[in-house]
Amino acid sequence: MKIAILSNGPGNYSTKRLKEEAENRGHEVDVIKYKNCSAAIEQSNPVVRHKGDILRGYDAIIPRIASSMTRYGTAIVRQFEMQGVYTTASSLAIVRSRDKLRAIQLMSRAGVGIPKTVFTRSINDIEEQIDGMGGYPVIIKLARGTHGNGVVLAETKKAAKSVMQAFYVMDDDGTNILLQEFVKESAGQDIRSLVIGGKVVASIKRQSLDDDFRSNTHQGGEGSPVRLTDEERKAVQKAAKAMGLSICGVDMMRSDRGPLILEVNSSASLKTPELVTGRNIASKVIEHVEQNAKKQPRRDRIGA
Ligand SMILES: Nc1ncnc2c1ncn2[C@@H]1O[C@H](COP(=O)(O)OP(=O)(O)O)[C@@H](O)[C@H]1O
Ligand SMILES: [Mg+2]
Repeated sequence: MKIAILSNGPGNYSTKRLKEEAENRGHEVDVIKYKNCSAAIEQSNPVVRHKGDILRGYDAIIPRIASSMTRYGTAIVRQFEMQGVYTTASSLAIVRSRDKLRAIQLMSRAGVGIPKTVFTRSINDIEEQIDGMGGYPVIIKLARGTHGNGVVLAETKKAAKSVMQAFYVMDDDGTNILLQEFVKESAGQDIRSLVIGGKVVASIKRQSLDDDFRSNTHQGGEGSPVRLTDEERKAVQKAAKAMGLSICGVDMMRSDRGPLILEVNSSASLKTPELVTGRNIASKVIEHVEQNAKKQPRRDRIGA
């Protein structure tokens, strides 16, 4: 097969590993910086160019879209979709997963356990809403934050108000904020599971190394392998399915009332899961591509 990995970071661990394993399995692989791609939209002729050259003949794409370039990146993914090229993550699913509010709305409809969450722009009536979530401390998060940036723990009403005011200083529609129940049983800990083709292939418990309530590895959290219970595995699988992502990273917290899903990542890193479990996860991704790209009904591709 001819596979394109859409990544602006050819030197990233995950990108390198995916390329390596795809080549090991006999595929032709190009790593394409999607920031250098353009899309030409004409009647019945969706074209993607990379620095002027028309990209053609791909059987599959593996998008690794950075959250800072979600709109641009997903537009390029969509253009490949228009050509009927198989993608490991649809543009729609990537967009959904990047908005924490939209994601938990979808998960809640699918019956996935999530922390109690309130979405509001009004600072004056938050008191009752926070009471309804169990009072303080409360989590305040930006709907589009990543790597633990944009997640704040407010201990008091005063703190909550000033954090919300600071976040809403830009009075636009793009900065949305969630108030969330603080899952204290799991403070400083969460479990990242990698899902491939609806199956959990690795689960890593991340623990913050200091007294930070955030366990992201970018915030200095470290990881160790963990076994999920049946209930937890089902919750993770359900979350991935609700988001429409066959390959993703699902973040979960263990709470007194069972597993609660925090978010689903469409470009989850393979680094910690591979290094911590010693499993060849990149190869599983490529196997998934092999099994599914062929099933994809192909429209005649431009020039292919
Ligand atoms: N409701 C919550 N209760 C307790 N800890 C939380 C809660 N939400 C997030 N955290 C902690 O903060 C980290 C980052 O939050 P998350 O929603 O995953 O945002 P990000 O996209 O920035 O990773 C989580 O991994 C978890 O450790
Ligand atoms: Mg997270």
